[in-house]
Amino acid sequence: MSHYKIAVIEGDGIGQEVVAEGLRVLEAVGRRYGISYAWQHFDWSCRSYLKTGKMMPSDGLEQLRGFDAIYLGAVGYPGVPDHISLWGLLIPIRRSFEQYVNLRPVRLLRGIESPLKGFPPRRIDLCVVRENSEGEYSEVGGRLNHGTDAEIVMQETVFTRRGCDRIIRYAFELARKRKKHVTSATKSNGIIHTMPYWDERFAAIAKEFPDVRTDQFHIDILTAHFVRHPDWFDVVVGSNLFGDILSDLSAAVVGSIGLAPSANLNPEREFPSMFEPVHGSAPDIAGKGIANPIAQIWSGAMMLEHFGETKAAQAIERAIEAVLSRSDVLTPDLGGMAGTRNVGDAIVRELQRTATT
Ligand code: NAI
Ligand code: MG
Repeated sequence: MSHYKIAVIEGDGIGQEVVAEGLRVLEAVGRRYGISYAWQHFDWSCRSYLKTGKMMPSDGLEQLRGFDAIYLGAVGYPGVPDHISLWGLLIPIRRSFEQYVNLRPVRLLRGIESPLKGFPPRRIDLCVVRENSEGEYSEVGGRLNHGTDAEIVMQETVFTRRGCDRIIRYAFELARKRKKHVTSATKSNGIIHTMPYWDERFAAIAKEFPDVRTDQFHIDILTAHFVRHPDWFDVVVGSNLFGDILSDLSAAVVGSIGLAPSANLNPEREFPSMFEPVHGSAPDIAGKGIANPIAQIWSGAMMLEHFGETKAAQAIERAIEAVLSRSDVLTPDLGGMAGTRNVGDAIVRELQRTATT
């Protein structure tokens, strides 16, 4: 029997609705594979911000440090500026816990029709590896001459050798376990200091992995290739901003943002890693019970994979795919009429059914 201590942050909007389903699925798979959990819930969100003036208490990171992982829904809600919710919770967790890898698998599942014509299930199967701790998301910069004609705003991109090397190396190591192909997202024609440096580090790290095929594209044409030829790619590594954009794009290409999971990994395991869907709190559908919980449930499978519970993780992925290929339990984002809870129920039942056959 393995046992894990998990911090649960439902957050805002649909975060609360989809995390509930994620936990039910993790419990169900745990019963089958001998895994138990101690869940501790943290009510850190825009709601708590409006009461306390903080997204998390000042010792929030200390409170999280001892957990095996963090399972997060989404934070952000109208009424609180997005940069407050992001910089008050998500970014401090990602940075303090050195979760420098944001891993976002993209797979066209059975039962899902891609908006792109002519792609059968599995033809699209790639991973976006996004740098998660520096790059364009930096606090370096400022504003001068507020509100005057002479107003100046500057925002610095920060690339460190340590930061570039570790994310690029992670991408190569991942590719070795997959189709041995790494693509670098760059823009070294227009951005003349940081991006040529990124290319330089990519070339240097590639030398350590002679068995892995490489290519690189400027981000603009790369987005076009993601739409025209998503089957060209295996592992795609990009800076914080490029990786963010590519992962929403690729989520759309395989059907819905409601299907896209992600992991914020500290590969050295010195700190807890964090598992969350790519999507946000979806205020437009919050409270209606129609959010697709699959991205959250799949993020739970990634958490189990990180713990080395590969069989349990694969059982969740198979159950997701089995349920998606039945057209009667799809949420509205996939063209169906099912609710969040119906999808969670169906996945739990599928896990129970396959356990007894
Ligand atoms: P969003 O991902 O919340 O929503 C974009 C669109 O996708 C909406 O039309 C929404 O209804 C739909 N959608 C998202 N998830 C869905 C699901 N599971 N099932 C069905 N439809 C789904 O992105 P948006 O609107 O840009 O942001 C809303 C809030 O969420 C903002 O406050 C933003 O800052 C925050 N946010 C938080 C993130 C996080 O916690 N990691 C990530 C992205 C946004
Ligand atoms: Mg995003």
